[in-house]
This record gives sequence, C-alpha cells and structure tokens, in this order.
Amino acid sequence: MLILLDSADLQALRGIIPDHPLDGVTTNPTIISRACSGKREIPGLLRSIRGLLGNEGMLHIQVTAATLDGILAEAETIKEQFGEDVYIKIPVTSEGIKALSILAKKGIRVTATAVFTPQQALIAAKAGADFVAPYVNRLDDLAVDGSRVVREIKQIFTDYSLKTRVLAASFRNIEQVHRVCLSGADAVTISPELYWKMLFHPLTAVSVEEFERDWAAIPEREERN
Ligand code: E4P
Repeated sequence: MLILLDSADLQALRGIIPDHPLDGVTTNPTIISRACSGKREIPGLLRSIRGLLGNEGMLHIQVTAATLDGILAEAETIKEQFGEDVYIKIPVTSEGIKALSILAKKGIRVTATAVFTPQQALIAAKAGADFVAPYVNRLDDLAVDGSRVVREIKQIFTDYSLKTRVLAASFRNIEQVHRVCLSGADAVTISPELYWKMLFHPLTAVSVEEFERDWAAIPEREERN
C-alpha cells in the first residue's frame, strides 16, 4: 500500500516527507496554481519537490495540453526536466488515451487521471497505464460511492490480470481513505492535512501525557523509612 501526498506546498511537504513513511507526491494544475504566483516558478517548484523525494520517491506530474501532439511534447519536456522515473499524469480523454498508449509503448511511466468509472479505468489499463487515479470525493459528492468504484476497478484488474495499479485520489476526510484501503486500492494520494489527521488521535495524546506524568512521579532514589 503506497501513500502519496497530493500537494505542491513545499512547506507542508517538508514537514512530512523526510521523516515519515511517504512514497511520493502527485500534482495537478490546480494544486500547482495554489503553490506558485507565476508560471516561471513552476520548474523550480517541481525540482524542489523532486529533490525532497530523493531517488526513491515517486513524482507524478500532470500534463496541461489537451491535444495528442501537445501531450506528447509536454511529456518529453517533463521527462527531460525531471528524469526518466517521473510518472506522466494524463486525463482519460480521447486524446489522452492515444497519448498514454504511445508513451506506455515507449516504456514511459504513465498515470491515467480524472477517472470516474471502472470503464474508463479499464480502457486506460488496456492502453498501458501504470496507475489509474479514480477521484473518490468528487464521486461521493454526486452520491456515487467512490470506494465502490475503486473496489470494482480493482476487481476488474485482478480478474483479467491487468498489472495497472489503483491510485485512489480526491479525498476530503479520513473515512474515505479508510474505505478505499478496504476496497483494494494499491495507493492513495492525500493532502498533507489529511495525513496529519490520519496520524492523530486524542486518546494517543492523553495516553502519552499520562505516561510522562507517571514516569516523572517516580522518585530518583528509593525513599528511606
Ligand atoms: C489526483 O491525482 C488529483 O490530483 C486530485 O486528487 C484531485 O482531487 P480534488 O478533488 O481534491 O481536487
């Protein structure tokens, strides 16, 4: 099970990535727009994230072009700037699937994004995607059970021996993360805020306080009668 951070907020990422068990970072144009004030900052921002992740962590960067040629050209630039091991995130549009297919055949790592149905996930997997990213909260918002969509995608991939992994995305609360973990997701990408919420429990804090108080109450030496 992989846990990635869906963020380009360097300060928030720096507070988690070096010391916590994180597997990578995903971004999209909206996330990038929140983290920078001009397009010229973007390469530097992504390079800083790459540096923070080191050699081990995965970095998924989304294309912004909508046409086949545009997506292919952008994928080349992303690869040149951020290394061979970067995952190119491509929305599952008609042009996106064509691009995904071409890139996957060249051995380039690809993540199919903006996935809302098992059928879109199946097409992306057949085209050679390494990951598909179903948007759980955006489905839940429409009264469609996002975790059920994740479970069905996983079942189809398992039943037909498709190697594509499920990277569940778009979360607003930890109950949604919990449900997709039980639904067979191979990975989740969550905000830094949700990561901290997953770790925190008030009773853990109270228990630790009690341990500290009781430990401090033991006298340094035995008291003599
Ligand atoms: C996934 O890869 C997307 O970046 C993301 O999770 C979309 O989530 P949102 O619904 O929080 O924007």
